[in-house]
Amino acid sequence: MDLDAFALFERHINPGLAGLLRFTGLDRVESHAEGPYVWDTEGKRYLDFLGLYGTLNLGHRHPKVVEAVKRQLDRMPMSVRVLVSEPTARLAARLAEITPEGLEMVFFGNSGAEAVEAAIKLARAYTGKPGIVTTQGGFHGKTMGALSLTPKPEYQDPARPLLPGVKVVPYGDLKALEAALDETPRR
Ligand SMILES: Cc1ncc(COP(=O)(O)O)c(C=O)c1O
Repeated sequence: MDLDAFALFERHINPGLAGLLRFTGLDRVESHAEGPYVWDTEGKRYLDFLGLYGTLNLGHRHPKVVEAVKRQLDRMPMSVRVLVSEPTARLAARLAEITPEGLEMVFFGNSGAEAVEAAIKLARAYTGKPGIVTTQGGFHGKTMGALSLTPKPEYQDPARPLLPGVKVVPYGDLKALEAALDETPRR
């Protein structure tokens, strides 16, 4: 085991997760990955069933992805934002092609939580209504808006006050959902 990296992680990043990993016997340090497999620094191979929640749906280091990323790094690592990024515009057009008719606009985010933040703002802007309904046991991320829709006391309590106007209903309970709906506009 690469004690140094694990100890550094525990000391400087997340002691709670480090404790959990140790408890489950996964106090290992990752080394490299390919396709569906990940190796730790002791050479043990793991089958990766998570795939970063679908982000790696082509597996780790698919040659075409690696090649495209390298090509873009050699050209320009990040969009400067004041000019239009060609790969971003082309990807948006491809996504519009494969999504249901009428969905033409794309918002790119860096994380799931960022997508949830955008969804909250778009819903409020479009409907003019402030209320949001979420379900018990759901996880939507840990930024303030997304956290407000993630009804877990361990996550929410240290960060209160949260976003106002959020109602929590049991998952799959249509009656509770209907009762939670509030048609009152914000303005
Ligand atoms: C359903 C769902 N929404 C949002 C998130 C938050 O994503 P991120 O960790 O990329 O912010 C997750 C992460 O697990 C998720 O499973």
